Amino acid sequence: MRLNAFLARAGVASRRGADELIRAGRVRVNGEPGELSTVVGARDVVEVDGRRVERQPLAYVLLHKPAGVVTTARDPQGRPTVVGLVSHPARVVPVGRLDADTTGALLLTNDGPLAHRLAHPRYGVPKVYEAEVEGSPGEEALRALRAGVELEDGVTAPADARVLRRGGPTSVLELTLHEGRKHQVKRMCEAVRHPVRRLHRSRYAGLGVDDLSPGESRSLAADEVRRLRELVGLARDAAA
Ligand code: URA
Repeated sequence: MRLNAFLARAGVASRRGADELIRAGRVRVNGEPGELSTVVGARDVVEVDGRRVERQPLAYVLLHKPAGVVTTARDPQGRPTVVGLVSHPARVVPVGRLDADTTGALLLTNDGPLAHRLAHPRYGVPKVYEAEVEGSPGEEALRALRAGVELEDGVTAPADARVLRRGGPTSVLELTLHEGRKHQVKRMCEAVRHPVRRLHRSRYAGLGVDDLSPGESRSLAADEVRRLRELVGLARDAAA
């Protein structure tokens, strides 16, 4: 593992911050100055400012994100963050983003390669949303959502769309997307003239949050991690 990745996983700094520490000569590996290209193995001793840095185990946390919380590690406006909500000893970071007003399933991890693949459109990881929208979407709107709608950053990939509830001034749509562009569900629904009033992600990569209250989180079980790794084509045993 690269030295900056080791330091990031250990919670010392972000990868970029770790690069700064390395450049500043504050990191030693087996007593020698660390370099940006240094690779750290299981037996190597890493120190920052003379203090030993312990290896952190991989961590995978599923959060039921409540509304009003931002999906970043720190917010310039001082709003609460998802990282602050998850009290985990490892420095886990969110995989992808949910808007501040969106609730539901959010995965946080310090497993960089897995996070990278889960967030990459190539792997088409399924994300299931329940969107309360204005009006009552008809067949034409549903067909457009399924086939792809024209947005300013291109046509959306094929998706599943069905109506979960109709009646009154709003309806609830279930949308399953395999990509994750910024504000995608809101923009798609706006494009078919059914603006979103409320948005909840019920499942991310097959992981649901029905058993968690908003704000609650839990660590994934080993078989859930294995399934995630398989979903994006990573070897089973690479997680050690
Ligand atoms: N699409 C949106 O519009 N917002 C989210 O938070 C997630 C998907």
